[in-house]
Amino acid sequence: MKSKNEVVVKRPDDWHLHLRDGEMLQAVLPFSAELYGRAIIMPNLRPPVRTVKDAAAYRRRILNCLPAGHGFQPLMTLYLTDETPPAEIRLAKSEGLLTGVKLYPVGATTNSEHGVTSIKKVYRVLEVMQELDMPLLIHGEVSDPAVDIFDRESVFIDRELQPLRQAMPELKIVMEHVSSKIGVDYVLAAEKNLGTTVTPHHLLINRNSIFAGGLNPHMYCLPVVKREADRLAIRQAAVSGDPRFFFGSDSAPHRLVDKEKAGGAAGVFNISTALSSIVRVFEAEESMDKLEAFMSLNGARFYGMPVNPDTITLQKTETPVPATDNIPVGRDRVKVFQPREPQFWQIVDGLRQTK
Ligand code: NCD
Ligand code: ZN
Repeated sequence: MKSKNEVVVKRPDDWHLHLRDGEMLQAVLPFSAELYGRAIIMPNLRPPVRTVKDAAAYRRRILNCLPAGHGFQPLMTLYLTDETPPAEIRLAKSEGLLTGVKLYPVGATTNSEHGVTSIKKVYRVLEVMQELDMPLLIHGEVSDPAVDIFDRESVFIDRELQPLRQAMPELKIVMEHVSSKIGVDYVLAAEKNLGTTVTPHHLLINRNSIFAGGLNPHMYCLPVVKREADRLAIRQAAVSGDPRFFFGSDSAPHRLVDKEKAGGAAGVFNISTALSSIVRVFEAEESMDKLEAFMSLNGARFYGMPVNPDTITLQKTETPVPATDNIPVGRDRVKVFQPREPQFWQIVDGLRQTK
């Protein structure tokens, strides 16, 4: 850190990102690639990224949208299904192409129709992952319709995650996008092999936002944002610098037509505002000295990767930075997640060319 109005941190990484495909990929990728060193790319495409071959092809499509030699590294994941053969994990390990395997309980979120119907069914695959030190990334919510939507994370922890961790203590697990105080406390109580990504929106809003001024689909994501006490617990953990908590934007773009309809899609596109709003959170919590741990160090350490060698510089401006409300994608648009508060931090050094 240099002064109150300038911050220098190692180039950050994004440990949970949806880039989609086709023209959506082309439209959203530059926002990640200009700033982040690496990003874990979620595999919930239609159809999902189910094999090492799918992941290699998807990686190529991502890199093809960037200038040759661009430094952004997409870290690929596989979408676990009931049918994933253990041999696919061995292949993934030997090819060195995958950073992790994503488990979506069937029906838990966007494009999870092919997800796992019961964790017991994939135990053999998980055992191989444990043996090979391949991280398991979990969407930690039950999809049982009898469970209240605000309790889905805590019930998942009791019913699924705790038994799994007891059965496979050496399996490295990321409980993605922690969204509740119970989830935060659970991660804090874990001695090893458990971490969590934290999204900007779970740090910034509570469930009132979904209903303030009328029903607002642009505040709807999964796990759904919860009570103020949950938000404050997540915030406290993130700004503490605890190594088990690291940034994962969960930036999940959907076209306006798909958000603003009955049965509108879950997911917010936040990556263009993510860093500046997170800096505000750390500033407000008087924890600027922990910003680098959260954005640039903890995730790399959890995944056993080196920290990015270069740095970025942020400066605080006197007047609010103008906010982009939406971006074009083909003939439609994608709304940018807007933090309620004005933004005062902008990146003045370290942005990379993406064209
Ligand atoms: C994500 C998406 O749209 O792919 N949606 C979301 O609300 N976060 C899926 C996910 O990560 O749950
Ligand atoms: Zn996600």
